[in-house]
Amino acid sequence: MNEGRFITLEGLEGAGKTSRAGELKAFLERRGKRVLLTREPGGTALGERLRELLLSPTAEPMAPLTELLLMFAARSEHVIQVILPALAGGQWVLCDRYVDASYAYQGGGRGLGEAPVAALEALLPARARPDLTLLLDLPVEMGLARAKGRGPVDRFEQETLAFHQRVRDAYLTRARRWPQRYRIIDASADPETVRGAIEAAVEPLL
Ligand code: TMP
Repeated sequence: MNEGRFITLEGLEGAGKTSRAGELKAFLERRGKRVLLTREPGGTALGERLRELLLSPTAEPMAPLTELLLMFAARSEHVIQVILPALAGGQWVLCDRYVDASYAYQGGGRGLGEAPVAALEALLPARARPDLTLLLDLPVEMGLARAKGRGPVDRFEQETLAFHQRVRDAYLTRARRWPQRYRIIDASADPETVRGAIEAAVEPLL
């Protein structure tokens, strides 16, 4: 059986990742692929419990390094229990956030820099590297306004504009450094246009 492909979706809060991920799953299924849609932090029972700790606005304060280690604790379980078995079984894996989010939020937003994230990434199996990463990019103010319009904010959404600007800058820096793996999608456009851009970016893998 052929191995599946591993596609990740990244972006600021309010970029529309989650809706676009659902549409991309349907698109791939119409093209005959078996698709697993999953998310980080989360994707396993343990990962979803860690997600609650990480996202709850009333969570105890934690040091940036602790936050990074908890993200990778959830990720390790997710890779071993879910992502690698799915790829080996021929499924396509669509993941709503992955390692790039740690570079952007903990490395950029929290100011840890790339080195601690790279050290942890190096512990993941080589096959757990995405084949394609779609960065849904939009101005910070627009993303946060959309995120706040959809209900209570989580621990990251309540961060400052400057924090989210650092997150965006870190994502864009990575995407420009490795253009073969990343596609930058303009998420400020209307949903149909964004969807078309995503399908065009995925087409070469099909
Ligand atoms: P979301 O899936 O609703 O976007 O929420 C996940 C939040 O967790 C989002 O604010 C980004 C944050 N996050 C990190 O800070 N680091 C990570 O490694 C991951 C996967 C998510």
